Formats: sequence, C-alpha cells, structure tokens
Amino acid sequence: MRMAAAMAAIFLLGSVSAVAGVFSDYSGRQLYERFCASCHGPAGFGDGAVAPSLKVMVPDLTRIYRRSGGAFPEERVRRIIDGRQAYPAHGTRLMPVWGQAFPVEEGGSAEAQVESEQLVGRLVEYLRSIQQ
Ligand code: HEC
Repeated sequence: MRMAAAMAAIFLLGSVSAVAGVFSDYSGRQLYERFCASCHGPAGFGDGAVAPSLKVMVPDLTRIYRRSGGAFPEERVRRIIDGRQAYPAHGTRLMPVWGQAFPVEEGGSAEAQVESEQLVGRLVEYLRSIQQ
C-alpha cells in the first residue's frame, strides 16, 4: 500500500511536462513544494509523505550547512538538482523524479537552458535560506 502510494507520487512527479515557461514564475519555495517536499518534507526536515517508503533515509535539507562543516556547498547542491551529481533516489539524469523541469541536456534550446539555470538557482537560494 505504501509502495503503491510512493509509486503514484513518483509517477505524478515524473509526468510533469517539459513545456518551457510553465514554472518560470515559481519562487524557489514554490519549486521546492512542487518537486521536493513529497520526499524531503514541507519544511525540508526529510519527513515527506513518501519518505517512509524509500529504502534510503531522506536527508534533512535544513542541515546541509551543518553537515558541510559550516559552509553551504552551493555548487554541490546545484549539481544535485540539475542531475550532474546523481542519486538513485532522484532517478536518473535523463529521467529525474521531477521530470524535465530543469533540463541540462545539450542540444536543448538556449532559452530552455537559461530558464533551467534560473529555476535551479532559485531552488539553491531557497535551500540556503532554510539552513539552521
Ligand atoms: C523521491 C524522493 C525525493 C525527491 C522527490 C527529491 N529528493 Fe532529494 N534526496 C532524496 C534522497 C533519498 C536523498 C539521499 C540519497 C542518498 O543518500 O543516496 C536525497 C538527497 C538530496 C540532497 C543531498 C543532501 C545532502 O546533504 O547530501 C539534496 C541537496 C537534495 N536531495 C535536494 C532535492 C531537491 C532540491 C529536490 C527537488 C527538486 C529533491 N531533492 C527531490 C529523495 C528525494
């Protein structure tokens, strides 16, 4: 039952459309709520609805700063979100659990690339803002 709920949530996330511009007005917080909160929790504590169904612990994203010894590893976080640094729980680079919201593929249009970088940047800034 739990697994079915998790699969449904992941399917929903995965079916997000790639149409450029759909998320361009989203703030970092809104992007977080849309694509990350199901696992990382509404406030980032790692207690999202899907978390108990996963085989790995979902990290508390408010403690990235502490875990990194008192520095916010901006470039690392950016790479995790845009898929250059892969985590099995995030899906694959081509099929991340958040669909094609932040594509990094070569060959995409320049506009899509710029938008993708902006959205990832907003998410990174949002995560920086919730550090404890
Ligand atoms: C399907 C559940 C799921 C979703 C959705 C998800 N994550 Fe994760 N995330 C995880 C898990 C599980 C890990 C830990 C993976 C591991 O340790 O192997 C992780 C790890 C991370 C890490 C590394 C944390 C650290 O300190 O090492 C960051 C940053 C992160 N996620 C950000 C995000 C962002 C931003 C989003 C939304 C765009 C997101 N995640 C969506 C499950 C998820």
